[in-house]
Amino acid sequence: MSSHSGVTPAAGRLGVLLPGMGAVATTFMAGVEAVRRGMSRPIGSVTQLGHIRLGKRTENRNPFIHEFVPLASLDQLVFGGWDPIPDNAYESAVNAGVLQRHEHIEPLADFLKAIRPMPAVFDKHYVKKLDGPNVKQGATKRELGEQLREDIRRFKQEHGCDRLVMVWCASTEIFMKPGDAHATLEKFEAAMDRNDDAIAPSMIYAWAALQEGVPFANGAPNLTVDIPAIQQLAKRQGLPIAGKDFKSGQTLMKTILAPGLKARMLGLNGWFSTNILGNRDGAVLDDPESFKTKEESKLGVIEHILQPAIHPELYGNVYHKVRIEYYPPRGDNKEGWDNLDIFGWLGYPMQIKVDFLCRDSILAAPIALDLALFMDLARRVGMSGIQEWLSFYFKSPMTAPGLYPEHDLFIQQMKLKNTLRHLMGEEQITHLGLDYYQE
Ligand SMILES: NC(=O)c1ccc[n+]([C@@H]2O[C@H](COP(=O)([O-])OP(=O)(O)OC[C@H]3O[C@@H](n4cnc5c(N)ncnc54)[C@H](O)[C@@H]3O)[C@@H](O)[C@H]2O)c1
Repeated sequence: MSSHSGVTPAAGRLGVLLPGMGAVATTFMAGVEAVRRGMSRPIGSVTQLGHIRLGKRTENRNPFIHEFVPLASLDQLVFGGWDPIPDNAYESAVNAGVLQRHEHIEPLADFLKAIRPMPAVFDKHYVKKLDGPNVKQGATKRELGEQLREDIRRFKQEHGCDRLVMVWCASTEIFMKPGDAHATLEKFEAAMDRNDDAIAPSMIYAWAALQEGVPFANGAPNLTVDIPAIQQLAKRQGLPIAGKDFKSGQTLMKTILAPGLKARMLGLNGWFSTNILGNRDGAVLDDPESFKTKEESKLGVIEHILQPAIHPELYGNVYHKVRIEYYPPRGDNKEGWDNLDIFGWLGYPMQIKVDFLCRDSILAAPIALDLALFMDLARRVGMSGIQEWLSFYFKSPMTAPGLYPEHDLFIQQMKLKNTLRHLMGEEQITHLGLDYYQE
C-alpha cells in the first residue's frame, strides 16, 4: 500500500450480503470460489485483472489496481443472502443454468450448498411474476426492516466478519417515482410505520443496511437508494451508496459505440435494440411494470452521451427504441440485436448491425464483485453518499442533484482510475503529454 495515504488496510473478513440469490448472485459467488480454488481466472473483473498507470509514461509504473489500493482479497470474502425462493445457492445455480454443471457447479457443491437464503422481505405487489414461501412476516415495513437488521448482525457475528457490504441482486421491481414519502428520512420512516406503498422491499433492505453501517450498491434499475431519504441516511452514517442497474450486455455495447460515433462527429437517426432472454429475470421483465423500470434505465444512455442539445444537426432527431422479449428456450444466454442508422459526410446514410450473443450473468458477476470491493474501499476511506466514480458499472449512474449522469464508458473509466489515484495521493493523468516534446 502507498505510504502517503490514510487508507486503512482491508484486514479481516468482508461479508458480502446479496438480496436475491438468483442467476447473477450465484454466478458471482461460484465464480469467486472457483477462482479461490485455482479452477478459473476472474475475467471481466477490473479489481482483479486491471492495472493502473501511475506517473509519466517513461516511469513504467503500472501496478495491478489491487496492489495499488488496499482491497479485500477474494480469500477474505464470505457470502450470505436473502431470497423468497428457499433454494440454496447450489440449487439456484443449477436452476439458473448459467454455469456448466459438471465443470463449475458440482466441484463447488459443498461451498454452494452451505449458502442458504435468509427469509426475504418480499411483496408480490412490487414483483408481479414471482412468488415464494421464504418470506418474513411483520406488522409493519419498519418491523421487517428491523428483522433484516437482526439478520445482518447475526450474519456478521456468526461468520466473524470485520465489515459488510450489500449488493442488490434481486429482481427488478415495478416502476416507481420519488414522492413525498421519500423526501426525508423522517417521512420515510413514518411511511414504513404506516405500510405505505411508496416503500418498496429494496428500500427496506437499503435502510436496514445503512442503519447497520453497511454500504449498499444497487444492481437493479429500481428506485431504491435514488431517493433523498436514503441519501440522507447514508450521509448521516458516513456510508457509500451506489447505483443503479449493472451495465452488462447491450447497454455496455451502447456506451462503447455511441462515444465513438460522437468522437468522429458521425450522425445518428435511429437506434433500435431488441433482446430475447429466457431466464427468471426475463420472466420478471415480461411484466409491463417491471419492464418500464428497465426501459427507463436503458433509454437515457444514448441521449446523455450524444448531447442532442449541443449537436442538434447530428443527434437532434434520434429514434431510440428498446425491446425485451421473454423467450424461455434461450435461458440466460441472451441475444441482443442492435440496428443503428447513422449518417456521414454530406448526409449519406449507413447502417451498423450488432448481434451480441452474450451471457448476462457472466457479464454481471464481475461487476458485482468489483462493486463489493470498491464499496468496501469507499467506506474505509470515508467516502459517503453517492459514489459517482463507480458510474462505470451502471446503466443509470446515480449523481448529485442537478448533475447529468456520465454514460461514456471511457470517461467513466478515467473517472474511476483518477479517483483511485486521488485517494492514494498520486497525480491525475490528463493525457496531455506535451512535456515529452519540450526541449
Ligand atoms: N443479469 C444481468 O446481466 C443483469 C444486468 C443488469 C441488471 N440485472 C438485474 O440484476 C437483478 C438480478 O438478475 P438475475 O438475472 O440474477 O435475476 P434472477 O431472477 O435470476 O434472480 C433474482 C432473484 O431475486 C429474488 N428476489 C426477488 N425479490 C426479492 C426480494 N424482495 N428479496 C430477496 N430476493 C428477491 C428472486 O426470487 C430471484 O431468485 C435483476 O434485477 C436484474 O434486472 C441483471
